[in-house]
Amino acid sequence: MRRGEKAVLALIGLVVVGGMVQSAFHVEDKHDRDIPFYSTATPEVAKQAMDVIRDNGCKSCHSLWTLKDVLQSVPAPMLDGIGAIRSEAWLYQYLSATDPQATLPSRLKKEYRMPSYAGLPDEQRRVLAKYLASLQVKDWYLEQTKKAEYEKLTGKEPQK
Ligand code: HEC
Repeated sequence: MRRGEKAVLALIGLVVVGGMVQSAFHVEDKHDRDIPFYSTATPEVAKQAMDVIRDNGCKSCHSLWTLKDVLQSVPAPMLDGIGAIRSEAWLYQYLSATDPQATLPSRLKKEYRMPSYAGLPDEQRRVLAKYLASLQVKDWYLEQTKKAEYEKLTGKEPQK
């Protein structure tokens, strides 16, 4: 066996043992390391939308496909999973509004608020809305988030 092969086997061994140790100790937390977000968009739509998102600096305020950037100064909502609470039609309307704060009132200083993207070409707003609506969140994470939110608001465990 060559050295490279040994190293590969050793690595596989580590991964297998690691997996067993993890499954022995983390039965209830098995979701902890999963990424709870996913998109149902076609690669074509995803690519077009991500280009618009990059060109317009959406990620300087919003997090998307990343952990929250601790240096991010704007407390904007994260866009991961946004399609679980907003429809494509809502998102299109919101991105086309000349005054987005008429739809979603803001408590932030003016420079941090959601800017109007009414000036973007219509097809860009449509592809953005389509893509954002495709951003979903896995059920277990939604449940966990709702539960945490309920406890934060009421200080109680949700009733079954
Ligand atoms: C200057 C910071 C900033 C930029 C840039 C920005 N947003 Fe926002 N966005 C916000 C804030 C803050 C909110 C929450 C509403 C408010 O306070 O105006 C928001 C709200 C939203 C919402 C609604 C979230 C909800 O609760 O339903 C969507 C969708 C959204 N933004 C998408 C985008 C997209 C797509 C882009 C880029 C084209 C973008 N934003 C660029 C700050 C920003």
